[in-house]
Formats: sequence, C-alpha cells, structure tokens
Amino acid sequence: MSLKTIKRSLIFFCVCIMAASSTFAGEVEVLHWWTSGGEAKSVAVLKSLLEAEGHTWKDFAVAGGGGDTAMTVLRSRVMSGNPPTAAQVKGPQIQQWGDEDVLTNLDVVAEAGNWDRLLPKAVADAMKYQGHYVAVPVNVHRVNWMWCNPEVFRKAGAKIPTTWAGFLEAAEKIKEAGFVPVAFGGQAWQEATVFETVVLGVGGPDFYRKALVETDSAALNSPTMVKCLETFKSIKQYTDKDASGRDWNLATAMVINGKAAMQFMGDWAKGEFTAAGKNSGSDYLALPAPQTSGDFLFNIDSFIMFNVKDDEAKKAQNAMARLIMEPKFQEVFNVNKGSIPVRMDMDRSPFDDTALRSLDEFTSSSVRGTLLPSMAHEMAVFPAVRGAIFDVITNYYNGDASAAATAAQLEEQVKSAM
Ligand code: BGC
Repeated sequence: MSLKTIKRSLIFFCVCIMAASSTFAGEVEVLHWWTSGGEAKSVAVLKSLLEAEGHTWKDFAVAGGGGDTAMTVLRSRVMSGNPPTAAQVKGPQIQQWGDEDVLTNLDVVAEAGNWDRLLPKAVADAMKYQGHYVAVPVNVHRVNWMWCNPEVFRKAGAKIPTTWAGFLEAAEKIKEAGFVPVAFGGQAWQEATVFETVVLGVGGPDFYRKALVETDSAALNSPTMVKCLETFKSIKQYTDKDASGRDWNLATAMVINGKAAMQFMGDWAKGEFTAAGKNSGSDYLALPAPQTSGDFLFNIDSFIMFNVKDDEAKKAQNAMARLIMEPKFQEVFNVNKGSIPVRMDMDRSPFDDTALRSLDEFTSSSVRGTLLPSMAHEMAVFPAVRGAIFDVITNYYNGDASAAATAAQLEEQVKSAM
C-alpha cells in the first residue's frame, strides 16, 4: 500500500469516527402511565421528536389511570438504586423527590429556553426544588368537565344539566329511556375525581379550598361537606352494574358510542374523543360539571428528571427537557391529549373551541381566585393526606356509612395522615 493510500484511508477513518460520534446519542428511559388510546398517541409525539434528534426512547409505561401504580413502581426502582431517566411526577411530590436528593438540575436547559419568562410563576415555582429546576411541565388539564353525548340527551328528551338538581332530573329521564346516565369507573382515583368536582360545585370554590387544599377540620366535618357527600353518592344510582373497576377510558368509550349520556372526568377524556375521530360541538359536548362554570380545577403533568452518570444519557435527558417546552411539542401533544399548553406564548389557531375555552378560563379563573389545584390529581396535598381522603371516599361510595359519619371520618383520617 502506498503512503498516499494509507494517508487517504486514515483521513477517511477519522471522518467516519467524527461522523459517528456527532450522531451518537443517548437513551432516555421514561416512566409514565399514558397507556389509553389518546394518551399513547400523545406520548408518541415526544418519542418521535427525541428520535428525530438521534436519541433512543426506552418506554417504561405502567398502566393505571391517575398514576398510583406507576408511583409505586417508581419508588421501588429508585430505592433499588436504578431510577429511570425521567418520570411522570406531579405537584407536591416533586418536592418530596427533591428531598431524596436524586433529582438532576435542569437550570441550564431552563435558562436557554427562557422557562421563567414563558411559564406562569406558580407553575415555574412548582417545578423547582430549592430554587432550581428539577422538573419540566407538560400541559394543563382541567378536571371539572362533563362530557356529554348530545344524541343520547336528545333521544331521552333530557336537558344538559348545569346544576346538580338538573342532573337528577336529566339522569332520571335518560335512565327511563334505556341509556346509562353516567359512564363511571369504580376505581378510587376516579371516585375521588368525581367527588372533588362535586365539592367544587356544591360547596363552591372557597369551600373547596378550605376542605381539600387547606384540609381545614371544620370544613371537612361540616354540614356543607355532608351535602357534598350526599350529592356525590346520588350519582351511583345512575351508573351501570359493571362500573366497578372499570378503566376511565372505557367509561369514555360508553359516551363515545352512545351507550351512556355523560361522564364526569378531566379533559384527558377529550384525548379519547379525538383519537376516535370525534368533534366537539357536534359529536360530543364538553361543559363544566354542574355548578362549576367559571371555576378551574387544574392538574399539571410534569416529568422529574433523575441524576444520570453517563454523558450521552445526560444529553438525551436535556434534549427531552428542552423539547417538552418547545412550541412544536406543546402544540401537537396538547391537541392530542385534550389539555392546554403550559407555556403562555402559544399560537391559539391549532386549538379547538373546547381547548380555547379552557385557555380563557385558566386565565380568567386565576384573576377571580377560582383557579384551584386538584386534590385527586396530586396538585393540592401530600400523598399521605390524599391517600387518606381516597380511602374514606371509596369506602363511603361503595359502603353503607352515612354522609354525616363519613364527614367525621374525613376530619379524623386527614388529621392522622398529616
Ligand atoms: C394525568 C393525566 C392522565 C390521567 C388518566 C391524570 O392524573 O394527569 O395525564 O391522562 O391521569 O390516567
């Protein structure tokens, strides 16, 4: 081989190495509980954006709406010294993971992306631990929605309710007409979701804040709480016999296919309508749950990011954090997911009427003081308190205890969980 050929081969070899190293990228292992049709379609957006930058997505999906199973799995992975790169974790739990000293600092990515300027201050603060970003917010969900099939209402001659008294009237007619009035999933987190929506409607925003955010004893064990509990339980007679244990998306499917008239659920339900090719306003109606018009129970999804050792994994992790906050992801993900973008400078044109109402009411409820954190979706209280409320509510819904005894129990159990 001539010297010239050797030299040429060497140069070629170096160029190959450089090309390979510039495209070599890391892996992110992402724990989440987005497994329904609409959810899976939404999370696939993030996967493909990351893959387009050369990174690898290792999916760590743990089924179970509301995420309680995912949180148990996450804890055992971290405890065994093997955390994923990122995990879907929300609200006050971000601070608890911060205390464990396992989270990475995302300040460099946040600064480059201007997160402090783009996020509502309360959201930015919730993503920080001791002043440093350790989590990235994905979206804003509204919990207090009612999803209606207008055709079922029409066939039953029932009016879409705006009050809980109106709900009873409509539900009676729908039942008589042979439909299931309320599509319901009997799982503790779904029961708690409906319960908190009733508390907001029947008790009003100030009562909600006192009872389910401040966990004030006098509010938890009060005549107003008794009324909320009674209204909540009155829904049960309008659900079907197979409700127990049903997944939330299967309940949504009952509204989509005209078996049931309505579902009380956050706007991740909208993701199911969208995935089924349905349009809001014609195929389905999204309205505030009775007596909650103008109030906004918020639920913000976010990912915490764990310390990673490997440089390439760190690059992939930073890319994931950056991409989540970029307009492309915020648009496509939220259109699919049924939520609204968390950054405040987004173009409104890709969003439908339901999303735009949500966007407007997010702002207006914040001005009016009726923008409230969801207890059921981990925005309001620490997990131990949330767990205590869940236990009392699920026992009440599925048992024979009176509303008065349950209100007393709420006060007691919450106190001992604090
Ligand atoms: C999450 C949503 C999810 C829903 C059902 C909520 O707690 O915030 O993103 O779609 O649970 O699993």
